Amino acid sequence: MITVIKIAIIGFGVIGRGVAEVLLEKKEEIQNRIGEYSIVAVCEKDGVAYNPDGLGWEVLKMKGGDFSEGSTVDIIETAEFDVAIEVTPTDIKKGEPGLTHISECLEKGSHVITSNKGPLVVAYSKLQELAERNEVQLMFEATVGGGMPLIKLVRNDLAGNEIDSIRGILNGTCNYILSRMESEKLTYNQVLTEAKELGIAEADPTYDVEGIDSAAKVVIIANALLNMDITYDDVEIEGITAITPEAFEVAMERDYTIRLIGEVSRETGSLKVSPRLISTHHPLAVTGTLNAVQIRTDLAKDIVVIGRGAGQKETSSAIISDLIEIFRK
Ligand code: HSE
Repeated sequence: MITVIKIAIIGFGVIGRGVAEVLLEKKEEIQNRIGEYSIVAVCEKDGVAYNPDGLGWEVLKMKGGDFSEGSTVDIIETAEFDVAIEVTPTDIKKGEPGLTHISECLEKGSHVITSNKGPLVVAYSKLQELAERNEVQLMFEATVGGGMPLIKLVRNDLAGNEIDSIRGILNGTCNYILSRMESEKLTYNQVLTEAKELGIAEADPTYDVEGIDSAAKVVIIANALLNMDITYDDVEIEGITAITPEAFEVAMERDYTIRLIGEVSRETGSLKVSPRLISTHHPLAVTGTLNAVQIRTDLAKDIVVIGRGAGQKETSSAIISDLIEIFRK
């Protein structure tokens, strides 16, 4: 029986700090739902902060030299915590360092909540098996669609439905670029710099514009929500770099727009990311940095969700909802 839920935050960049802030700011409301908790450790590349009695607001002021020497792996091995929030930068090819962090936390019997796509793309079924074997949960709402609910929506609220397909806009940076090209008649290169300034692009924005980030999300959706067993190489990928303002003109004459769509379909067997023509009246024709997903099911038929796919507070929303799901009283 846990008396105080001990939380370790692994990765203390924009997302880690955002989650810590929400945990401190909304402590009373969240505690009403899950019981008492404290942040006992934060780990980042320059060092760690650890206090078994709990860290407070001071942790948000800490920078480089303020952290104690020590590595994330030391904390995972020696500190006592019930749940790790793993939010280090993603590496879609090898999944590291998140894969090691998540595996070791599950192995030692800690629940894990992550926004890190790489480890799930590389080793989803292995990590799920590890979680089951250690009787803990691996939660990852933040990996797809940020603040837009999708994983728990399908698993909980659509439980009992067969999921036929999930398709939609899974990358806010590309959607922003395409929307601006459409409304301002700008070229791809003119909008790219603007998109980078929004702060939601990947560290390497080619991950966004070449469709790599969307493909990673397609892999997570297929494995986690459609019970498939696919890898990144199974996804056919085409990005948005070849789209011209002229292509928008032709599309718009027929009342269509162009959007980068990720698709997983059991019916057609399609696993794909590519620019597609979408009717301007279709609910997926969202603008700006929004994400939008259409879930096709046997009982509830079509469901569409629209929301913010990235951002500090938006991603924290997904992480906090996972925390509440694990420890709900
Ligand atoms: N770079 C991603 C996007 C962030 O633009 O949607 C969220 O995964």
